[in-house]
Amino acid sequence: MKKNVIIISASPRRHGNSDLLCDRFMDGAKEAGNNAEKIFLRDKTINYCLACDSCKKNGGTCVHDDDMAGILDKIIAADVLVLATPVYFYTMDAQMKTVIDRTYAKYPGLGTKDVYFIVTAADTNKNALERTIEEFRGFTSCLLRFYRERDYLRDRGLENRGHPREHCDGRGVCNGKGSVTG
Ligand SMILES: Cc1cc2nc3c(=O)[nH]c(=O)nc-3n(C[C@H](O)[C@H](O)[C@H](O)COP(=O)(O)O)c2cc1C
Repeated sequence: MKKNVIIISASPRRHGNSDLLCDRFMDGAKEAGNNAEKIFLRDKTINYCLACDSCKKNGGTCVHDDDMAGILDKIIAADVLVLATPVYFYTMDAQMKTVIDRTYAKYPGLGTKDVYFIVTAADTNKNALERTIEEFRGFTSCLLRFYRERDYLRDRGLENRGHPREHCDGRGVCNGKGSVTG
């Protein structure tokens, strides 16, 4: 069955390592007959959550009038959500964290979906990237009833832009039989 795939690309580097992996994921997902869209966060205006709780009193509308409302609608409608970030000081980047915090407006009603993580870093130590995967799980575990983590990709030893080594095949992944490893 055709799936609706939303890919959040959080690196500020267009065509950087994680962004290229997002493109590969998207291409594969489309080749497999799914609908897939990448959202490149650098092109968007997304303010920080103010923790004012207005959204909790008004049915989920944030006080910020920015691009996040449209992104949230797409996340809610997605069957598959891909979260991609470079590692910055052994955590996800601020752009990704800002998006995650802003999902609070509709949380926990984000819908049922499969979730994939893409994480790139300069560090060559595989274990050094686990923390960032765990941080993503901090988000998805809040939605455990609805979210099913499918797989994740860690690509390491990437100091420079544009040379991800890992194979990232959205075709297999979106069919539920592929695997991305690192
Ligand atoms: C502000 C900043 C902080 C970084 N911190 C780390 C780090 O803690 N560990 C690491 O291995 N790489 C770190 N890096 C390197 C990036 O994670 C690495 O180059 C990654 O491949 C970039 O992915 P991108 O091309 O998708 O932006 C950092 C890069 C920047 C710009």
